[in-house]
Amino acid sequence: MTKGPRVYLYELAWILPSIAIPVGMLSALLVTAFGAGIHVPSDAGRVDIATLGQRAPFDRLGLVEVAPLRYEVRLIAQIWTFGTPEIHVPAGSTITFLATSRDVAHGLFIPRANVNVMLLPGQLSRVTARFAEPGEYAMMCHEYCGVAHHTMAGKIVVEPRS
Ligand code: CUA
Repeated sequence: MTKGPRVYLYELAWILPSIAIPVGMLSALLVTAFGAGIHVPSDAGRVDIATLGQRAPFDRLGLVEVAPLRYEVRLIAQIWTFGTPEIHVPAGSTITFLATSRDVAHGLFIPRANVNVMLLPGQLSRVTARFAEPGEYAMMCHEYCGVAHHTMAGKIVVEPRS
């Protein structure tokens, strides 16, 4: 008879975490997705490798200003370069990266700016990031793409606004 309440407490000790843990995970997902704006980058379309560099958006490469403080950076990755070693924008800029690969699987990783996408031949990758603080933001390939993979890098230089 005296064991009754004790069993109930043990059940409670299992039931409460089994509710609290999924609720906590769902909350973390909602906060990161809508609060911090962290999304899994999706396949933004297809590109034809044969005509790469001739058709939009890759007919014009590098930095393209689309509005005040809004830019597009259009990159065609190939062994072992992004084509644009250095990009200069003013602080507070929002950049949408439109990128693909000409040859093998590459990656575009900007650790300080929440940019992490794969660049695959035939696929258009699109990711947007805001560069609020002045400074240098390293840009690197994070997908092993051959013997000089480690040299495949660039940087975004965010300049202070006067
Ligand atoms: Cu390109 Cu590693």
